[in-house]
Amino acid sequence: MLRHTTVGIIGGGPAGLLLARLLHRAGIDSVVLESRNRAYVEQRQRAGILEQTTVDALRACGAGERMDTLGLVHDGIELRFDGRAHRIDFPSLTGGRSVLVYAQTEVVKDLIALQLDQGGPLLFEAEVHAVEGADTERPLIRYTHRGREQTLSCDYVVGCDGSHGVARDALPEPVRRTYQRSYPYSWLGILADAPPSYPELVYAHSPRGFALGSMRSPTVSRLYLQVPNGTDPADWPDERIWGELDARFALRADPDWRLRRGAITAKAVLPMRSHVTEPMRHGRLFLAGDAAHIVPPAGAKGLNLAASDVIILARAFIQLSETGTTELLDAYSDTCLRRVWRAEHFSCFMTTTLHTDPGHSPFEARLQLSQLARIADSRSASAELAENYTGPPLG
Ligand code: APR
Ligand code: PHB
Repeated sequence: MLRHTTVGIIGGGPAGLLLARLLHRAGIDSVVLESRNRAYVEQRQRAGILEQTTVDALRACGAGERMDTLGLVHDGIELRFDGRAHRIDFPSLTGGRSVLVYAQTEVVKDLIALQLDQGGPLLFEAEVHAVEGADTERPLIRYTHRGREQTLSCDYVVGCDGSHGVARDALPEPVRRTYQRSYPYSWLGILADAPPSYPELVYAHSPRGFALGSMRSPTVSRLYLQVPNGTDPADWPDERIWGELDARFALRADPDWRLRRGAITAKAVLPMRSHVTEPMRHGRLFLAGDAAHIVPPAGAKGLNLAASDVIILARAFIQLSETGTTELLDAYSDTCLRRVWRAEHFSCFMTTTLHTDPGHSPFEARLQLSQLARIADSRSASAELAENYTGPPLG
């Protein structure tokens, strides 16, 4: 039975696992408590765009081998609107930055394998119920494991338990500030055994709604369609999905352009929202990743924000263990929130610029097109997008 650890980590998603790995490399004890079983965590479909900062951290902590073999370096994206295509070239607009296409699911598999092979304890099916004493020297994590009530005493607790976790509840109401925004549409996401029909991701604005062409490998495509909230995937038979995708990706200059089709192996509707909880620290409790902030997926920021939170937090714990000073720990919340709000702004901008809003007037619809044309025609506007998409260096 586990009694005490230096850092108690709630949640075995990318944030919790990367933090445990970074701490392990620095000789700092931690325990990861994950409520689901390994199979579930390793098959959960999520996004797959890694900023250079995330790639560097995974490589530096020894989790980069498969990523470097299977990951696809992308130097740009394509915007499609008004029947035209416009490529955004990242390196020329950002002084050399690019992104890596490597699924979050694979990142999680790599980190779990490392943790179980050479890391601290990682308990699956360990459901945390509460964090107590966050403002004391010995916070406690109450959890159930194999049907038994357990308590883990910690020097510090990090809530990496996602958007529906319990750690956030340990922030006292009077201290907590919540900011959120919802959107009048969702995404219908599919996985298809079809070779991607585009060399780089395609973000398409169309009067019929948004569409995104992404990929998982040279043989597996990942595609998304804007649909009304509450859409039932059963109302979208495969034929209808492919037809609608082709319509939204349509190019005036190449009217015969069509997606390569293949068997659809996964289909799900994903609601989207923006959410930030401040502060990201209360006493000896820290929040990281989706436990503190949610971004809509159009900016590909969710995983990268989670990674930058725990990179910043690990540096702070390492400073504490090496020097005894809490300078970086005390600055953690403010340091992360600067980056979080930048990503919230960019993700909201991408969402509201590329999606067709049922509440929009024809005037507003034309403003969207003007914004997209501005990005296509102006170096500074496309550089602004490229810098945000590839992500600011962590310094
Ligand atoms: N006890 C233990 N584990 C829990 C609890 C709990 N009470 N509640 C949730 N968890 C686990 C979940 O099962 C999940 O595995 O916490 C983990 C949180 O992982 P994520 O939701 O993946 O969040 P995070 O690690 O912050 O990663 C953020 O995930 O959702 C995407 O777009 C998001 O890409 C971003 C990334
Ligand atoms: C994905 O590959 O799933 C993906 C890529 C880019 C996004 C969102 C999702 O903006």
